[in-house]
Amino acid sequence: MQKLKKLFYSALTFTFLLNLNIPVTSTQREVIVYSGRHYDTDRYVFKQFTEETGIKVRLIETAGIELLERLRREGSNSNADVILLVDAARITEAADSNLLQRIDSKLLESYVPEGLKDSDREWYALTRRVRVMVANPKVLAKAGIDINDITDYTDLAKPEFEGLVCLRNRKSPYNQSLVANQIVNKGEEETSEWLDGMIDNLAQDFYSGDIAIIRAVAQKKCGVGIVNHYYVARMLAGVNGRRDQLYADRTTVIIPNPAHVNISAGGLAKYAENKEEAILLLEYLASPDGSSGLAEPTFEHPLNEVNQNEIVRNFGEFVPDDVTVEELGDYNSLAIKLMINAGWD
Ligand SMILES: [Fe+2]
Repeated sequence: MQKLKKLFYSALTFTFLLNLNIPVTSTQREVIVYSGRHYDTDRYVFKQFTEETGIKVRLIETAGIELLERLRREGSNSNADVILLVDAARITEAADSNLLQRIDSKLLESYVPEGLKDSDREWYALTRRVRVMVANPKVLAKAGIDINDITDYTDLAKPEFEGLVCLRNRKSPYNQSLVANQIVNKGEEETSEWLDGMIDNLAQDFYSGDIAIIRAVAQKKCGVGIVNHYYVARMLAGVNGRRDQLYADRTTVIIPNPAHVNISAGGLAKYAENKEEAILLLEYLASPDGSSGLAEPTFEHPLNEVNQNEIVRNFGEFVPDDVTVEELGDYNSLAIKLMINAGWD
C-alpha cells in the first residue's frame, strides 16, 4: 500500500512538473534555479511567477552542500541563474566562495529587512525559521525540572539536565549557526562554557536530523533537544504521517526569548545568463506574496510577518535577537572550532 501511495505521489509530482512549464517557444524567457530548499510546495510559487511574467522556471534541486560543490565544479560553465539555499552558513559560504554576484534591485532592498541581507547585495533572505527547544514535560518532571524554567539554550548546560539532552551532529549548518549566534550574543568564553556543559549532559550520541530528535524526545530517550520550529509543525500537521503526528503531540516547543532566527535565502549566480529574469524571480520571491507563498506551506515564517497557521501560532510569539545573518557567517569557523573543542561530533 505504501509503495502504491509512493507511486501515486511521484506520478503526481511528475505531472505537476510538466504542467509547471507553459508551452515553450524558442524565444520564451526562462530562469534556471538551483535550489537547496527541498519543498514541493515551492513549485506553486514558481508557477505563479511564470503565470504573472511569462518567464519559465527550470528547477534543479540538490542538497545545500552538494549544490555548492556542483557550482564550484561547473565554474563558468554553470547554467545556474538563481541560487536558493537554506541556512546563513550556506548562503554566506556561497558568497565567500565567489559563487554569487551583486544584485542591483531597489525592490529587494525594500522587501528584505536589515540584518537579513548581504551588505554586498549578493544575497537576500526569503523566509525565516526559528531554532527552538523541544521537550518532553514528563521526562523533565521526573528529573525535577519544570519546563517553564527553561528560557534559553544555555539552560541545557545546567547540571540538572545530565543525561537529558539530545543534539544533531556538528555537520548541521543549523547548529553551527546557533553556536555562531551565541558567540555574537554572549561572547566566546560564555559560549564555550555553555557548549562544555551541554555536551556533558548528552543522553545519546549525536543525531543526524532534527526529526530524529523530535522522535527521540517523544520516545523518552531524551528530555529536551534543539530543532527548527517547522519540523515540529510539519509533524503535528501530519505531513510525515500519523505516527510522527502522535510523537510530536507528546512534545512541547520552547522558544527562547530572544530567539535565534535563521533564513533561507536567494542569490544571483556568478555566471547567470538570464540575469534580468533571475532578478525578477528573486524580487518576486522576496515580495510579500512570494515570501508567504514559500513560507506558509512549509511552516516557516515569511520575511515580514508571522506564519498564520494555527499550529505555528500555538508555539507562541517569538522575538528575534539582533544578530545579523552576515554575523552568523562571519563567526561560522569559530563556531565549528568551539564545537570541536567541546566534543560536539
Ligand atoms: Fe530544514
